Amino acid sequence: MQSVRVRHYTSADYPRVCELDAPLFAGMGGPILFRHIEELFPSLFFVAENESDEIIGYILGGVHLDNERIGKLIRIGVVPNYQRKECGTMLSDALFRELRNHGVKQVHLTVAETNMPAITFYLKLGFVQKERIASYFYPDVPRLALWKDL
Ligand SMILES: CC(C)(COP(=O)(O)OP(=O)(O)OC[C@H]1O[C@@H](n2cnc3c(N)ncnc32)[C@H](O)[C@@H]1OP(=O)(O)O)[C@@H](O)C(=O)NCCC(=O)NCCS
Repeated sequence: MQSVRVRHYTSADYPRVCELDAPLFAGMGGPILFRHIEELFPSLFFVAENESDEIIGYILGGVHLDNERIGKLIRIGVVPNYQRKECGTMLSDALFRELRNHGVKQVHLTVAETNMPAITFYLKLGFVQKERIASYFYPDVPRLALWKDL
């Protein structure tokens, strides 16, 4: 989308990203996660801004220390009134480009099997389902594992 641009996250974005994340990922530890990712993988954390410089989406990734060819899409969120406008695709493209620069050849993620919008989004990006993990989150929360070659 023409008026949306993607840039690297900075620490100053922390409150806004936490605010956007709260309704999208209720109870999924956003404020703790974002501080860790900002310290561990700053180059793999991006935000999308609208024409008024307001953050309207974010994506964060990581790389496996024991296999640097494998990266992870850890979380992506776009505010509801900017969804279906290619913002998620732009954020993903930025993350994949950066992962490639780090030598990553394959991206992994997990998604709730009930989250059909996200699953459809990931399949359109080229992810394929590898497995269903029955108790991925405590105590018995299943997730689908999806992979994509870069
Ligand atoms: C998943 C999410 C990041 C997608 O972001 P987005 O900016 O809306 O995605 P895009 O506009 O780039 O969509 C690209 C394609 O994905 C698919 N898609 C995206 N949202 C969809 C939806 N709600 N229903 C069906 N397909 C969808 C479509 O094929 C779409 O292409 P099209 O609009 O030309 O048909 C966004 O819906 C979101 O933030 N959801 C809430 C948080 C979440 O569930 N994150 C993932 C957790 S694992």
